[in-house]
Amino acid sequence: MSKSQDTHLQKVIRLITTAAANAALYHPEHRQVLRLNKQALNELHQLFNLHSTVTLKVIDGQLIFANTPVAKNLAVDRLLEALARNGIGHLQIEPDVYAEELLGLINILSKTPDKKIDIKGSENIHFGQIEIRYKNPASQQFADLDLDEIAASEADRFMDIYQSVRNKQKLEMAGINEIVNGFVNAFNSQSDAFMAIAPLRSMDEYTYTHSTNICMLNLAQAKVLGIEGQLLNDIGIAAMLHDVGKMFISPDILSKSGLLNEEEWQIMQQHPRLGAEYLLNTPGVPQLAVVTAFEHHMRYDNKGYPQTSRPWKQHICSHMTAISDTYDAMRTHRAYEESLETDQIISIMLDLAGNKLHPQLTYSFLQVLSGLDQKNEPSNYTTS
Ligand SMILES: [Fe+2]
Ligand SMILES: [Fe+2]
Repeated sequence: MSKSQDTHLQKVIRLITTAAANAALYHPEHRQVLRLNKQALNELHQLFNLHSTVTLKVIDGQLIFANTPVAKNLAVDRLLEALARNGIGHLQIEPDVYAEELLGLINILSKTPDKKIDIKGSENIHFGQIEIRYKNPASQQFADLDLDEIAASEADRFMDIYQSVRNKQKLEMAGINEIVNGFVNAFNSQSDAFMAIAPLRSMDEYTYTHSTNICMLNLAQAKVLGIEGQLLNDIGIAAMLHDVGKMFISPDILSKSGLLNEEEWQIMQQHPRLGAEYLLNTPGVPQLAVVTAFEHHMRYDNKGYPQTSRPWKQHICSHMTAISDTYDAMRTHRAYEESLETDQIISIMLDLAGNKLHPQLTYSFLQVLSGLDQKNEPSNYTTS
């Protein structure tokens, strides 16, 4: 296999497997799936310029193309797994393949059949089926993906759910539960949440991407504290929804590129109350999410907002969310402030521990951060 063939083949495999992962998360005709399908078809056509048909075989767990083993990587592994799940030992694609046919293949690869099914080929795509391996529970589907890949695609899915809130539609709690379950499952096999938090893609997407990031960071904090089970899930859900009140704030204020004036700041400060009220009236929302939405800007020293008329004891989840929130705001470049280096972030967070942030939880967070951030020198702060 020439280098050029190999490059095109690897791209085709990556595009098809990513499309299949998206089809599993959303639905087979989601715009991302269609976009990836189109790109995969273009790459296939490049490959057909060099090779008359594309035949992939699985021999001894190895993918073979043009009598040569295909170098393994995450996408190749994922394709092998999808083929195995569906009992496909042989896949042949002819040069006349068209978009709908390729989409059909992606749809098949996105599925986890729980019983024997005969997979039908199409005009230009042919399968050879072998014995099927069953019992790959759907809930484990995410566990095979990298956490950062889940985070990126879940940020997109979460964006759709959040957008429906802005459009005065019902909050889709089932979707949020599913997203958090996916994260919790993935955490069991991979725990580098700090590597997985999604980069900011545009100002408009800030709230969505930010919420997914806070979820990962809260789960990381909770896991270190030994929290498991339903409480862990609720902490993840609370994180996903902590800023839902921002959906009721004007986008002009949310995405303003400079500092907010006094009036705008007053409006912005209403988002915890608006979020909590909204969640309180939404069926299926855990109470912890309501509490966290209300308390996440209160600060450890109670000098934040909303102000309460009597002494207030905040939930540990609100403290954790405030820590994740502070960290994410500093590492993310916003229009009016520079993003900071990890060392600077650590030193600022140490300054905030005990006033804005809960001290012990902050030290615990920073320990996780320094342990996982392999690229940085170990930090020399103490936790005493
Ligand atoms: Fe907030
Ligand atoms: Fe936030």
